Amino acid sequence: MTALPILIAPDRRLKTRCKSVDIVDDAIRRRLDQMLETMYEAPGIGLAAPQVGDERRLVVIDVSREGDLPAPFKLVNPEITWMSDQTCLMSEGCLSIPDVFYDVSRPERVRVTYLDESGTQCETEADGLLARCIQHEIDHLDGILFIDHVSMLKRNIALAKMKKLKAQRAGKRSAKD
Ligand code: NI
Repeated sequence: MTALPILIAPDRRLKTRCKSVDIVDDAIRRRLDQMLETMYEAPGIGLAAPQVGDERRLVVIDVSREGDLPAPFKLVNPEITWMSDQTCLMSEGCLSIPDVFYDVSRPERVRVTYLDESGTQCETEADGLLARCIQHEIDHLDGILFIDHVSMLKRNIALAKMKKLKAQRAGKRSAKD
């Protein structure tokens, strides 16, 4: 299995509302494993399906610390059912917006329902980095990027940086051809 290419913003496919999964079958499980491999290789702590050009409501997360055992978390059709009134600021980044980090305010705790990889309905409550990551990834499924939560000035700076990065990468590719 090889890692999938990760889309870089701005990209229409990152602004799409993804579709719910009807049945968690082998194809879905394979896709979740591919997404995990892609996330670990990047490396990152979360990845949503639209970042690899897949318009289904799939998310993978692993917020375990370096040196600890991996703790892969796979979520199908995740949905936030409760969030705390208490919010907090945390620095966020995104594999689709490399090398850009901004403080984003979000609820501190959330409750989320999802299907696991066997198709079983699950519910969990999260705080700290995991709560942060769950909200960031579910945003992706609704076509929302973390730079949509900051000022227009910051967002425009980030997008200009990404356009430059994409031009550089395209240049490198054509030089190799
Ligand atoms: Ni992201």
